[in-house]
Amino acid sequence: MDTDTARSVLEANRRDGYTIPSATLYPFQWNWDSAFIAVGLAHADPAAAKREIRTLLDARWENGMVPQIAFWSDAEGYFPGPDEWRVGTDRTVHAAVETSGITQPPMVVPAARYVYEVTGDEAFRDSVLPDLRAYCEWWLRERSDDGELVWIRHPWATGMDDSPAWVGPLERFDPGEVSYVREDRKDDDLADQRPTDWDYDRYVALVRQGRELDWDEARLREASPFVVEDVLTNALFVRACESLAALSADASDESEATRWREQAETTRRALSDRRFDDERGLFVSYDLVADEPLPARSIAGLVPTLAGAPTPDQFDRMRETLDSFFDYDYAVPSYVGPEMDTDRYWRGPVWLNTNWLVERGLRRMGAETAAARVREDSLSLLEREGFREYFSPETGAGRGSDRFSWSAALSLAWDGDGTDEGRMPIGLGRD
Ligand code: GLC
Repeated sequence: MDTDTARSVLEANRRDGYTIPSATLYPFQWNWDSAFIAVGLAHADPAAAKREIRTLLDARWENGMVPQIAFWSDAEGYFPGPDEWRVGTDRTVHAAVETSGITQPPMVVPAARYVYEVTGDEAFRDSVLPDLRAYCEWWLRERSDDGELVWIRHPWATGMDDSPAWVGPLERFDPGEVSYVREDRKDDDLADQRPTDWDYDRYVALVRQGRELDWDEARLREASPFVVEDVLTNALFVRACESLAALSADASDESEATRWREQAETTRRALSDRRFDDERGLFVSYDLVADEPLPARSIAGLVPTLAGAPTPDQFDRMRETLDSFFDYDYAVPSYVGPEMDTDRYWRGPVWLNTNWLVERGLRRMGAETAAARVREDSLSLLEREGFREYFSPETGAGRGSDRFSWSAALSLAWDGDGTDEGRMPIGLGRD
């Protein structure tokens, strides 16, 4: 693996205290991108890894939410920018910065723990702990009906924007006439690789509904047509709680450690008891508006392995399902099923971040051979095509933008800890 090029991609994408995902498509700070980037930088450039997380948490809202995008630089001409979200700069606690009005999967908590375990920097731990706790509290207070599973209210918040899993709830509502100019596919040749206008109209309509209701969570819970318990988000919420427990214990705060260990167990059990689809052999998300499961074969349904959620019987069922995901030249496609499109975004292509999560999850379940396949395929895609945003599982061809930060970062992470047990970070791999 070409670690020098990976580092140079990250350095070129670095701004003042954070790293943009891609210079051509995403010129601000994104929530879970920064978390994966920090994981990759933990060994290569620990000071930058710590700054990445600190800067992201500096955009935290007063209510605890860590937003999906922090607009640290001028967003003139970007869609959807601050004018579209209309969040303002007075919701944040640490810095006056414009943000989007939604969050992303809470990967920042395990990432912060990982950076702490690599660096041993107690000042960093103490600086991030209150923000991480506020974020986990926010999930439970604002985003859970039952104190067990958490929900999101925008496909962008899942990190897997146009996954076929979301078609059901999106079909149910009429976005009306929404006029806007898309910024995400300036080049025509990207049109086949990015979400369709049908999806995009609905993303924009949900943003406009959010701002009309002034981002009031209680009102949006009632009014939004899209309220989903996403299994990937919930799996990372379990990891977030486990990580918060570990950091709290390390800081000698036993009562917080116990509280978050118990919460992790509660959410893990709820995933296993209520979100496993026995017929399909994987976890499936749940539509809280229609009160029905969203039974898609999405890679999101494999990520609860990372939370240790499947029982042994459930994991046996998952092995057959894994075969259907592995039945491609390059594992792991983001979706397998009738709506698969191997070139389009989250409808089939392989992404390095979900591969990383699944690889870690398979290791947690003791499925070393399957995990090794995921790692090898990921590294060979990077070797072949460079640090692309995503890849065709059939041909391996690189898709989306180039010099994509989390692809570079995770190649460093795989290079740095890989399968070497001695250096394996307990923060992400096991508990
Ligand atoms: C897209 C991806 C999302 C990512 C963002 C920035 O919206 O779907 O997961 O965080 O781009 O890279």
